[in-house]
This record gives sequence, structure tokens and C-alpha cells, in this order.
Amino acid sequence: MTTQSNTRGFTSNIGAILAAAGGAVGLGNIWRFPYTLGNNGGGAFLLVYVFFVLLIGIPLMMTEFIIGRRSQKDPIGAYRTLAPKHKGWMLIGIFNILGALLIYAFYSVVAGWTLNYVVLSCGNQLGGCDSATIAQKFAEFTQGSFWPLFYQFLFLVLTAAVVFMGVQKGIEKMSKILMPALFILLILMCVRSLTLGDGVRNGLNFLFKPDFSKIDGHCLLSALGQSFFSLSIGMGAMVTYGSYIRKEDKLFNSSLWIAGCDSLVAILAGVVIFPAVFAFGMSPAAGPELVYIVLPNVFNSMPGGAIFAVVFFLLLTIAALTSTISLLEILVATLVEEFHWKRSVAAVVSSLVVFTVGAFCTLSFGPLKDVQIHGFTIFDLFDRLTASYLMPIGALAMTIFLGWFFPKAEVRDELSNGGTLKVKAFDVYYFILRYVAPIALIIILVSGLIGK
Ligand code: PHE
Repeated sequence: MTTQSNTRGFTSNIGAILAAAGGAVGLGNIWRFPYTLGNNGGGAFLLVYVFFVLLIGIPLMMTEFIIGRRSQKDPIGAYRTLAPKHKGWMLIGIFNILGALLIYAFYSVVAGWTLNYVVLSCGNQLGGCDSATIAQKFAEFTQGSFWPLFYQFLFLVLTAAVVFMGVQKGIEKMSKILMPALFILLILMCVRSLTLGDGVRNGLNFLFKPDFSKIDGHCLLSALGQSFFSLSIGMGAMVTYGSYIRKEDKLFNSSLWIAGCDSLVAILAGVVIFPAVFAFGMSPAAGPELVYIVLPNVFNSMPGGAIFAVVFFLLLTIAALTSTISLLEILVATLVEEFHWKRSVAAVVSSLVVFTVGAFCTLSFGPLKDVQIHGFTIFDLFDRLTASYLMPIGALAMTIFLGWFFPKAEVRDELSNGGTLKVKAFDVYYFILRYVAPIALIIILVSGLIGK
């Protein structure tokens, strides 16, 4: 074991799984998944989504872990180390870093909203409000300038503070308590949503009953993008975390656990949200604000809802935080290892750059609403561009590297922990890596582009 992985690596297998699951489970599951599913017609999207997680998501998560753990490096250093004579592959790492920056820029906007909701629910300010008032308050908040920027900034500071303090132990420990807590609360909220009476059947039908006519190029691309976004694939996040995983841990099993938790949380979020959407007479295609308008209604209809609201938004903030930590960690690990910056300086400078870019995303709900590029606001553009294009393209490049350039024997060696494990499904994995994933990615990217 290298000294590097001793000082900065995860201390246990469960710690690694929880930290990576913490990075994966976040706003992508509870905020982005329901609204993207709502925009893409419901059940058919879910089916395609699950299919992509199983067929491409899990193998690609393993691929990132292999690249990270084999090289023991940040995304740029990883490609340099694994392909020392072909510097061009480092471009994948650079591409990853830029993508992570863009994701963090718009992700921090929504994370800021969550923080604002913690404050609102502490003062029970949405308690007793009807749907229209909740929607109006949300619009007033997001269309402003100062407060949304303030909360976004606060979130960036919070993340930087944790990353700066040296996350591993804190995050490992925190994740062990908070992730299960979020899970239990989601189950409680499912029970509430499923007993709302009117609308439950429609909500569940919307979520689980596929209407196959809804599957087109756009739906495929959105489902693929969502699965990558949710599993944090294609942006070097799992390469970075993979470099922290101990050599004796099983990458295959860990990937299954992480993807399983991640998908379960997304589906539970759907079970909470869609019955409520129909029960309260809202539109499932409301877009990014969906969750922030629906959930307060659910809380208002629950006994003790005011308390649940505080706890829930707090946990959502923490789920978002474990993800923003993984995003910032990609940038910081690179600056520290490639450019020998101090960790503290790297955390502060990266966060400031993200805030500068992210402010445009925040303001695109208010003062910059009319700035549209191809019909998208800046926020929507970042959201779509990263999930639907940058992540799949990053992933495609990665599959070509590991499947076609890097020696197969080394891939097998890493996945089997130096031959000490029997990886029965290796041939299946390798086939997906070499053929299925890249071909599927190319077809979906092209059909999504044509379908637009
Ligand atoms: N997977 C995270 C979520 O679902 C978002 C994320 C994407 C984090 C890419 C890191 C890298 O919230």
C-alpha cells in the first residue's frame, strides 16, 4: 500500500462504500430524478433508467474505480500514470475537471435552495400554506438575487470547510449515521404519500406504468444522462474516490452496493413525490422546482409535519453536501497532486471559481432569465449539457481507454485484486466495456442530438 493511500484513503470497506454512496446519493436522486422523469413521461423513463444503470452504469462505475485505484491518482494524474507514453489521454482528465466544475456550479444553486428550506422550515414558514402560496414563495425566492446567491455561497463555504479539514474520517463517520437516517425518513414519507387517498393510484401509475410510445431519442438520452448524473459517472468523481479505496476491497461488490443504494433512493423519492403531485393537483412536468413545491404540501398534510420538514431538509442538505464534497474533491485532488497546491488554497480558489460561474446559474432564474442559449436558460443549459453530453462523452472516452488501449491483463489484475479474487463475471464486464457501452453511448448520443 502506498503512503498516499494510507494518509488520504478510506479506512474500511464499509467506509469506502458509504463515502462513495454519499457522493452518488444526493440532489440527483431526490431533486433531479423526479423532475426529469416527470418531464419525460413517467414509467417508460424509469424502465429505461433502470436498464441503463444495470447495463452501463455499474460496469462504468467499476471502470472508474479500476482507473482510480490502479493509478492512485486524481483524474488527470490517473491517465498520465496509466499511459505514460501517450500524454493525449490526459485530455480525458482535463475534460473531467471542467465537467465537474460546471456541475458544481449549477448543483450549488439547488443545494443553496435546500439550505434555504432548512431555514424556512425551522421557522415553519411554509406551514399551513396552500400549493399556490408555496409555489409563489418559491418563485419569489429563486427569482431574487441576494438570498439565492447568499445560500449558494454558504453552501460552497460549508463544502470547502469540510474538504479543507480533511474529509475522510468525518465523512466516513457522518455517512454511517446520516445516510441510514435519510433512508428511514424517506420510507416514512412514502407511507404518508401512499395514504394521501386521491391521486395515489394516478401517481403510482405515472411512475411505474410504462407508456412505450414515450420512448424516443430524447427520452433515452435523458435517462442515460440521469443515470450517469446520479451515479456520478463520467466526471472523474469515482476515479478520485477509487484512488482512495483499499487494495483489498472488492470493486465489483462495492459498485453493486453503491448503485443499488443510489437507485433505491431515487425510486423511493419517486414514490414520495408522484402520489403527492397528483393528490395536490399539480403537474408532474413542473421542472426543477417540482420537489421544492410538492414536498412542503406533503409535510403540511402530515401530523408532526413541521418537524419532519426540518429533519428532511436537513438530511437533504447533508445528502447534497456529501455530493458537493465529492465534486470539490475532484478539483482539489487535482490541484494538490498535479500542481502541488496546498489543500486549503486549492479548496478556497476552486470554490471561488465555482461561485463566479455558479452565480450566473443562480441569476438565470431572476435577472438573467431572458438570457437564453438554444432556448435554455443558463441553469438549464448547464444541467442538460453536463448530464446529457459531457458525462456520456467523458464515459465514452474512458471506455475506449480502458477497453481498447489499456492491457486487458492489467484490468483483470486490478478487478481481481492481483488475482486473489475470482471475478466470475470478468468476461461479461470486459465485453460491456469494449463493445456494449461505447456502441450504446454513441447511438444514444447521436439519436439524442438528431431527436432534438
Ligand atoms: N451523483 C450526485 C447526485 O446524484 C451528483 C454528482 C455528479 C456528484 C457528478 C459528483 C459528480 O446528487
